Amino acid sequence: MDKLKTKIIEEGRVLGSSVLKVDSFLNHQLDVAFLNEIGKEFKEVFKDKEITKILTAEVSGIAIAAIAGLHFQVPVVFAKKTQSLNLDKDTYEGEVYSYTKEQHFKIRVSRRYLSKEDKVLILDDFLANGEALKGLRDIVEAAGATLQGAGVVIEKGFQQGGDQLRSEGMDIRALATISSMEEGNITFR
Ligand code: G4P
Ligand code: NA
Ligand code: NA
Repeated sequence: MDKLKTKIIEEGRVLGSSVLKVDSFLNHQLDVAFLNEIGKEFKEVFKDKEITKILTAEVSGIAIAAIAGLHFQVPVVFAKKTQSLNLDKDTYEGEVYSYTKEQHFKIRVSRRYLSKEDKVLILDDFLANGEALKGLRDIVEAAGATLQGAGVVIEKGFQQGGDQLRSEGMDIRALATISSMEEGNITFR
């Protein structure tokens, strides 16, 4: 998606060797009109797939998934990262490994909002190590639902998540794939 690449180049900031900050439109301030274009693009990319539900994880996935939900005309469910009193006890769980915290944690979706009849599209903001997508895939599998594919806004192609999950059969589409980046020089695949 050319407009996304332009926005990444103009507004993105590279921290260290592997972190891209896109706080001006995706991860802190939300450029809602642009996110609407992203939602529309996901619909175009997955137009041949039957989708009954979009699944994402809190926090950063929610805005993208919600707007995409308007284009797909399906409900959006987000997995929760903390066990709270408000969350039903009866949940599907997925496991995510955090490289920054060096520990596993669980993400959860109430059994009310996902069933084996569902045809699920997973959406997220970033694909790096693929841990979030793996945890969300766990949830789809636990529900006995069908995973139709996964869409990510930005894939960091120099990290291994995308290659690994595609080799396991996940149909992943990225709207922009970064092949390398350093301050002032971001290249796309
Ligand atoms: P993974 O899901 O691909 O394995 O991501 P990883 O564990 O490497 O990254 C941990 C968190 O950082 C994830 O957010 C992920 O989306 C985000 N992330 C990874 N690389 C980048 C990057 O280059 N730039 C930015 N801005 N974010 C990145 P999270 O903690 O799961 O969720 P959230 O609460 O931020 O949504
Ligand atoms: Na995320
Ligand atoms: Na994030």
